[in-house]
Amino acid sequence: MLKIGVLVSGGGTNLQAIIDSVENGSIKNTEISVVISNNKNAYALERAEKKGIKNICISPKDFSDRAEFNRVFLEKLDSCQVDLVVLAGFLVVLPEEMTKKYENRIINIHPSLIPSFCGKGYYGLKVHEAALSRGVKVTGATVHFVDAGTDTGPILLQKAVEVKDGDTPEILQRRVMEEAEWKILPQAIDLIAQEKVSVENGRVRIAQ
Ligand code: GRF
Repeated sequence: MLKIGVLVSGGGTNLQAIIDSVENGSIKNTEISVVISNNKNAYALERAEKKGIKNICISPKDFSDRAEFNRVFLEKLDSCQVDLVVLAGFLVVLPEEMTKKYENRIINIHPSLIPSFCGKGYYGLKVHEAALSRGVKVTGATVHFVDAGTDTGPILLQKAVEVKDGDTPEILQRRVMEEAEWKILPQAIDLIAQEKVSVENGRVRIAQ
């Protein structure tokens, strides 16, 4: 049984997609052990609570400095003893100590086709604003392993989504979530749970 910890900051629709996929069996052999938020008001925490999933908030606001927050956060995560950490709209830069300790055991969902529209400053609606202002015809989402960089880790899954005339960043964000994020994030977890994923020389291999 793969034990996962899901890290969230906001609405938690990706978390919901994971919960639903575990329930309906499209993610197999997996248990959501804990949901951790950095934001007390994240609706994602309520989604977890409703399903009886352990949920905690560790807010940087409750610590005198970032180093202390990072230390307590990592300590708490370690104590949950998860096999895989899933960043599902988690808007916190991970300290290097954590990315090292959890090498190839943290995945993230990013709302573009990496390497487009990724890296520092590209998060949430800003990604879609940038895609629209560049006039791309196709965008999408990427699930990747997390390394010390921003959106630089080995790519696990990608799915393309069409950009349509008249799209606003909000409309495009919604389409990318519905058509890509909510599908490939659960799919990536299931592949890992089935032990089909390996990382070799910075590239992901998926066994058939
Ligand atoms: C998603 O667009 C994700 O790609 C981005 O933040 C958003 C999270 O949405 N990193 P939700 O909290 O899962 O609804």
